[in-house]
Amino acid sequence: MMFPLPTAFAIRNVVVQPPLVLAPMAGVTDSAFRGLIKRLGGVGLIVTEFISVEGLTRGNLKTHKMMKFTADERPISIQFFGVDPRRMADAAEVAQEAGADLVDVNCGCPAKKVVGRGAGSSLLRDLPHLAVILREMRRRITIPLTIKIRTGWDDNSIVAVEVARLAEDCGVEAIAIHGRTRMQGYSGQANWDIIAQVKRAVSIPVIGCGDVRQPADAIRRFRETGVDGVMIGRGAMANPWIFRQTAEVLRGETPYRPTLYDKRDVLLEYFDLMLGECPTETAAMGKVKQLCAQFTKGLPGGAVFRTQVFHAQTRAELTDHIQAYFTRMGAREAAGEQLPEPEEIPEETLCDGAPDTACQTAVVV
Ligand SMILES: Cc1cc2nc3c(=O)[nH]c(=O)nc-3n(C[C@H](O)[C@H](O)[C@H](O)COP(=O)(O)O)c2cc1C
Repeated sequence: MMFPLPTAFAIRNVVVQPPLVLAPMAGVTDSAFRGLIKRLGGVGLIVTEFISVEGLTRGNLKTHKMMKFTADERPISIQFFGVDPRRMADAAEVAQEAGADLVDVNCGCPAKKVVGRGAGSSLLRDLPHLAVILREMRRRITIPLTIKIRTGWDDNSIVAVEVARLAEDCGVEAIAIHGRTRMQGYSGQANWDIIAQVKRAVSIPVIGCGDVRQPADAIRRFRETGVDGVMIGRGAMANPWIFRQTAEVLRGETPYRPTLYDKRDVLLEYFDLMLGECPTETAAMGKVKQLCAQFTKGLPGGAVFRTQVFHAQTRAELTDHIQAYFTRMGAREAAGEQLPEPEEIPEETLCDGAPDTACQTAVVV
């Protein structure tokens, strides 16, 4: 069966239009990155990187800073991870007071230091406890509560449908699902058949997630599964225009094709934003180096550029390398040369998310 393409969906009073969601990504989707994505257009909902309820409720300043957002990021969801129902509910209250549109519970993080404490995807192994957390949070806030899950802990314990039903029963108003198990990490392919099963099982909105790298991937997933929304993570790091392009395709228009000059300008804008946000210049440079790596995989001269970028010691050096590479390649592109599309992002450039990581850097190049 082929489903019609949606134009929007709503989580109670929160309208998500277009029905495209920026995935939470620790160390990546800080306020600066989110603002940039929002400005490029096409994103209907933004989720913060995950925030530790332990850090937040124990007054950790860095954790509090991670909750900061600007009005242009709205609608915005603040995502928490933790295991203690009272602290989860306290954190949800703080988010509501801070003006969040939605509060989201992380039930998918596979990182050892998170699951080791019973949080993230570990919650998929203890559904009675998950229900206690969700009920307590639901009781304490008035804004919609949502969750983000994986399909299960491993192939022998696929619980997505069961968790989705339980969540709906606890008053959760939308569910995002990354179609991999915890044990899969980021390997293999996301299983969208399970996402489709979840969609059929509940009446709250279901947002599918996993391996959407091109607008065509999102369109196919909408058509095949009937999900209400599609969430994009790594695809947005490699191509922050993916939301705008997908929204254009959803409207039947030709998608915008960013030039290498556009990419240069976005990188430099991001660098400026990061210098304002990060505690040190080195931290800001780390973030920009990460994005440089994503932007240039597979492009001619990309490997040399990434090595130069990796070794850049100062802000001026890094800016010069970005200017020089993208201006040179942009000129070749403007002269009509067909440059290859960037390749998929390699696994080793990704972190798996760590708590309290304001301005941390994923492994670069
Ligand atoms: C660097 C990185 C950090 C992530 N951090 C989080 C997080 O904080 N919370 C969360 O729910 N998922 C997190 N994820 C998972 C993504 O939200 C998403 O579910 C996953 O990457 C699959 O989608 P994609 O194929 O579009 O990237 C992270 C993924 C990456 C690559």
